Amino acid sequence: MTNPPRRIGVLTGGGDCPGLNAVIRAVTKNALFHGIEVMGIEDGYLGLIEDRMRPLDYAAVSNILTVGGTILGSCNRSDPGAFVVGVDAEGAPIKQDLTDRCLGHLEARGIDALVVIGGDGTLSLTAPFARAGLVCVGVPKTIDNDVWGTDITFGFMTAVQTATDALDRVHTTAASHHRALVVEVMGRNAGWIALHAGMASGSDVILLPEIPFSLDVVASQVERRHARGKTCTVICVSEGARLQSGEQVVQRLDPTSPEPVRLGGIAQLVATAIEERTQVEARHVVLGHVQRGGSPVAADRVLATEFGARATRLLVQGRPGRMVARHGNEPADIDILEPAGRQRLVPLEHPLLDAARSVYTSFGD
Ligand code: F6P
Repeated sequence: MTNPPRRIGVLTGGGDCPGLNAVIRAVTKNALFHGIEVMGIEDGYLGLIEDRMRPLDYAAVSNILTVGGTILGSCNRSDPGAFVVGVDAEGAPIKQDLTDRCLGHLEARGIDALVVIGGDGTLSLTAPFARAGLVCVGVPKTIDNDVWGTDITFGFMTAVQTATDALDRVHTTAASHHRALVVEVMGRNAGWIALHAGMASGSDVILLPEIPFSLDVVASQVERRHARGKTCTVICVSEGARLQSGEQVVQRLDPTSPEPVRLGGIAQLVATAIEERTQVEARHVVLGHVQRGGSPVAADRVLATEFGARATRLLVQGRPGRMVARHGNEPADIDILEPAGRQRLVPLEHPLLDAARSVYTSFGD
């Protein structure tokens, strides 16, 4: 147990997602109610390194519940403990530990606690600050829904809705032209978005990273459907879907990012394979960052508000080092470092897989 803080800093790190502003609003309003001042740190840990912060009052968080993105800005490549300050002659990044600089900025501004809103990477970066005695609490976020230790993250349900809307639209044009349409959704190595959006849209084939698939099986599925007189085949593929050889399609590598691999391109590969193996014309669509943008759906606004309120309550109760979570439908909290280096993937025994197979959805296996 620690004393409640007098002034907190709040930051959003990693890739953005719908609902971040709803958390910032809930954290700020709850903190102000308890007499705690709030400083918004700009662009994640980068703002902490560069001492860029601004006070948040009621007016600053008014009318942001429904707004996508983050009013504070975010950054997915600023680790204060290993900050990239340049590259050496071989092009390898030169890193510097700027933890003490950050602690100095926090002390100078009278900030005695941090609310960190981020994925496993952003949350794990609280470790050196906590070791130095700073109170930190975490709020998990990601459209991918892959943060270990919570059954759901806000942003996910909005991404699923966006992907479902796109799949529904693709369905009608695919049917008009008797085509196979392959839609690539985000999610990194977790297939949650593909599984949910694929099921919600009645996609005929869903390809997930957790279930390695065969191009031959997908092609024969398409061929069989069209031979039976079906007007189209819609395929929802996760960007991280793996061929049975274990191969994923990597779009690019970013060596300055803590997670350097950017996946992408599997939809095109699948569409090309269908045209090579069948008489059916195929097209592909990559939804990309569309899934991260826009106003959060109602369920994400509610979850984000609940998470933000509970994070502030942890501070008021003097319980540092925790991350708010949901276990089933119950509120929970876990050690903030527990998700570090782990991913919550779709388990092979997940009931949704059975339900999808029961309505003749193929996973290409
Ligand atoms: O983790 C969220 C996410 O949108 C992933 O689904 C995707 O693979 C990645 O981030 C894209 O990262 P960036 O915005 O750096 O391209």
